[in-house]
Amino acid sequence: MSEAKKHIPVMVEEVLQTLQPRPGQTILDMTVGAGGHFGLLADEIKGQANMVGIDRDPMCIEAAKKKFPESRFFHGSWTQALMDMDGLIKNIDGVLIDCGVSSMQLDQADRGFSFRFDAPLDMRMDTTQTQTARDLLHELTEEEIANVLYEYADEYRSRRIAKSIVNASKQNKLNTTFDLVDAVTQAVGKRRGKTHPATKTFQAIRIKLNQEIQELENALAYLVKHLHKGARIVVITFHSLEDRVVKNIFRDYDRQKKVIRLNKKAIQATRDEYLQNPRARSAKVRGVEVIDAKMDKK
Ligand SMILES: C[S@@+](CC[C@H](N)C(=O)[O-])C[C@H]1O[C@@H](n2cnc3c(N)ncnc32)[C@H](O)[C@@H]1O
Repeated sequence: MSEAKKHIPVMVEEVLQTLQPRPGQTILDMTVGAGGHFGLLADEIKGQANMVGIDRDPMCIEAAKKKFPESRFFHGSWTQALMDMDGLIKNIDGVLIDCGVSSMQLDQADRGFSFRFDAPLDMRMDTTQTQTARDLLHELTEEEIANVLYEYADEYRSRRIAKSIVNASKQNKLNTTFDLVDAVTQAVGKRRGKTHPATKTFQAIRIKLNQEIQELENALAYLVKHLHKGARIVVITFHSLEDRVVKNIFRDYDRQKKVIRLNKKAIQATRDEYLQNPRARSAKVRGVEVIDAKMDKK
């Protein structure tokens, strides 16, 4: 795993204040990544052995197993890995979900997440998954691609871009990240402002390929149903669609008296933090405590 640019965990203070991990507790980190938050949480609960980790990226899991040999790890998407955890879920006192891709995934050129590098059009968080972004774009119709761009990235030029993507694909010119950048710029022109014209297209395709929104909805529903009373869930999101999903789910469960929201307004990073770590600029933290559960902690 390339560590060229070190992954700095975001909003550490805010996560700890909301999750309140204590010595002796068991904590589940559902997004191990480079293990930044994982290590900090292990310190708070004073023991790696009570840390459980999930990630769908096999390389993250391999690295984490070496770094935290006493902890337990599950490889897979949340939907799968939570099932694999089975009875262990009832021991969990706190859960952290730090959404999206990690900086290692973005900086590893051959993963195809970034339009900064020319690489195969891949974008799989889980490299054992068969379908890549290239496969997905060759399978979807023009209308479906436009809907993905609009739904997952609010791309208002979605139809123009989708048409250009399909044209590129018909000419067998849709195999690499730079091919996708070309398809976008042919549709909407080159960069004018600060943001690269392909930013939203890359985001939308990544979200669709990795089923990020469905995964988040399923995982939160499962956790609220299976965690014991008093357990906490903290989620860090990085774009408005993700935050809206978390906000609405937490609000609905709060109304149903299944959870209590620990903060009604999302907590954002301080200026100091995002000046040091630009990734924190769009980060939002929300947390809940489970109040209605089938089981109380023994
Ligand atoms: C933002 S990074 C986490 C970084 C980590 N908190 C740290 O401090 O190093 C998100 C990680 O979650 C994983 N991930 C995202 N969605 C997932 C899902 N639905 N199931 C399993 N893992 C997922 C990604 O593979 C990535 O490694």
